[in-house]
Amino acid sequence: MTSVLETTAAVTARAPAKVNLELGVGPLRDDGYHTLSTVYQAVGVHDDVTAAIADEWGVSVRGRDAELVPTDESNLALRAARLLAERAGDVEPVHLTIHKGIPVAGGMAGGSADAAAALIACDALWGSGLGKDELEPLAAQLGADVPFLLHGGTAVGSGRGELISPVLARGTYHWVFVPTDSEGLSTPQVYRTFDELNAAREIDEPRPSPDMMAALRNGDAEALAAVLSNDLQPAAILLQPRIDEIIESAMGFGALAAIVSGSGPTVALLADGQEGAIDLSVALAASRTAEDILRASGPVAGAHVIPAPRLT
Ligand code: C5P
Repeated sequence: MTSVLETTAAVTARAPAKVNLELGVGPLRDDGYHTLSTVYQAVGVHDDVTAAIADEWGVSVRGRDAELVPTDESNLALRAARLLAERAGDVEPVHLTIHKGIPVAGGMAGGSADAAAALIACDALWGSGLGKDELEPLAAQLGADVPFLLHGGTAVGSGRGELISPVLARGTYHWVFVPTDSEGLSTPQVYRTFDELNAAREIDEPRPSPDMMAALRNGDAEALAAVLSNDLQPAAILLQPRIDEIIESAMGFGALAAIVSGSGPTVALLADGQEGAIDLSVALAASRTAEDILRASGPVAGAHVIPAPRLT
């Protein structure tokens, strides 16, 4: 028979993926990071993390691309749990079970989502009661995107992306995501290539663009499409030219805009409404431009506890 302790000794949290609506990259800092000015949007592609009290610390991974995720101490969700344990003090070890829905190494912050979900799940499980505001500094230590994935919605990120302020954004945006093979396209490599491509010019401090803010305030997908931008896109395309083919095809099939998500290689397509997103994904599949296609809308909530883990 299952004891009461066992049935209550697990908490599941869900965290979204992100797309960068604007990604302005500034100079390389002394700590190896670049100054960023980015506008994040959380989108409805999710990872779930279940934290369960266990005899030993550990992590297992299921779902999409599970075999690509490390299950040793380098796993970002496990690092998140251990960091919170240091802060909370005197807690029992946990085993984390990650159920992936977000493409791995795709520029949609899947690893960061796992870290955000692990912080929320462990905070609830251990009763440390820190809440999002006190978890935020821990999130920032784990990665530049982790604080945003705690909060979700639409937000400006500055610093190296970890300093978050919410943006007034109306409406719902409909996205189609085309993950492509991430081989040979790591985030540090894309940033290094950005540095090489821009070696000959002075790089200014990036700032959020007023046109982006206006489009979001008005909830206008066409206006948003016109101002989507990503300074890392030329570097990502240079490293993986297939990205450019997908962008061209998608524009031919009626996408309002097509942009590399973060450091790539996933291509984010902004569609004209929900039906537009369905039509676009059908056209991409029928033309064999892409086999792997995800549809999601945004903005959605950040990491939060959900009632029960997914069973498959
Ligand atoms: O924060 P995260 O661990 O996701 O970043 C991975 C790598 O991406 C960093 O080690 C750095 O090389 C690069 N990066 C950067 N500037 C940023 C964010 C990331 O150069 N603002």
